[in-house]
Amino acid sequence: MGFATDAIHVGQEPDPSTGSIVAPIYQTSTYVQEAFGKSKGYDYARTSHPNRRALERCVAKLEGGESAFVFTSGMAAIDSMFRLLRPGDHTIVSQAVYGGVYRLTTQLLVQFGLEFSFVDTSDAESVRRAVRPNTKMLYIETPTNPTMIVTDIAEMAAIANERKLTLAVDNTFLSPYLQQPLKLGAHIVVHSMTKYLNGHSDALGGAVILTRPADAEKIYFLQRSTGAGLAPMDCFLVSRGIKTLAVRMAQHDENGMTIARYLDDHPKVQRVLYPGLPSHPQYEIARKQQRGFGAMISFDVRTLDAARTLLNHVKLCSLAESLGGVETLISHPATMTHSSIPAEVRQQIGITDGLIRLSVGIEDADDLINDLDAALEKT
Ligand SMILES: Cc1ncc(COP(=O)(O)O)c(C=O)c1O
Repeated sequence: MGFATDAIHVGQEPDPSTGSIVAPIYQTSTYVQEAFGKSKGYDYARTSHPNRRALERCVAKLEGGESAFVFTSGMAAIDSMFRLLRPGDHTIVSQAVYGGVYRLTTQLLVQFGLEFSFVDTSDAESVRRAVRPNTKMLYIETPTNPTMIVTDIAEMAAIANERKLTLAVDNTFLSPYLQQPLKLGAHIVVHSMTKYLNGHSDALGGAVILTRPADAEKIYFLQRSTGAGLAPMDCFLVSRGIKTLAVRMAQHDENGMTIARYLDDHPKVQRVLYPGLPSHPQYEIARKQQRGFGAMISFDVRTLDAARTLLNHVKLCSLAESLGGVETLISHPATMTHSSIPAEVRQQIGITDGLIRLSVGIEDADDLINDLDAALEKT
């Protein structure tokens, strides 16, 4: 079936006992056994429950994976994914990775003997040079949050295969509608489902999608051992959101391009970071590996003062962290999402004080332009 059909139907079969077209929310912690040692497939909700199974089947299908496991947030999913590693293992991570991943790896996981190097993964030579005898994983985010650097996934897969590394890709910014890393050779995909997969800013969630049964076994073990699996109500909300993923992403993509072009022409905007603009350094790679360019845009208004003025004057765009919802969100990475990255590292990777991140929603693009126009006028 096509992507939109799978998004609506996989895992969402009508309820066999009542015919309900929407799967019920199984708001229960335990499942009564028919007889000693005889269950109906579920025993205790930490281990699994029907809403979680339904969502996991759908997400695995959309990413083209063998299996998927969903967690209470993107960070819980990413944390479990890194626990596939053993003390002493080394991972190469995209330099401009999401701030939460930087914090998790450099402040927590290092305490358990894992090693990390932050490398510009858009440069294959730098990645090759960073491989050590104990390197086991290559973890990339493409495009990166918020610097929009694109990494060539197929090229990373070639390095991973050559050096026997696991290639894991954070696909949060594009969703499987616009990019499918497993088809380009990645072994694992992770998501913050809080973003485009859910799409309505009303639930948190994370996913790990796998291709290898041995990894799946370990992730399932972790999910039920740590109790970080997603709860029924949140699974229901994300599953509902996914049903409109195809139409939402098509509109996000169209609006993203319109707003990026508008900002690119604006005299008060110093630079626009959007892989859909031919001026973007990895425009050709984005064109090759993505089905569209998405709706995440970063742009620089030169100073902290100008950034503050802009953020205080937008009305339709909401000043908030997060992204991927139907409503447009605007934020200041240096003081919000990426404040856990030390100032000197932020400067090095291009998260300047004047950098603004926009998650373009699916409102009328003209209304968004009018809002940005009025606020930019004040800067
Ligand atoms: C690219 C990316 N990965 C992971 C995460 C973490 O997801 P969550 O906030 O659902 O834990 C985020 C959150 O902003 C993100 O932007």
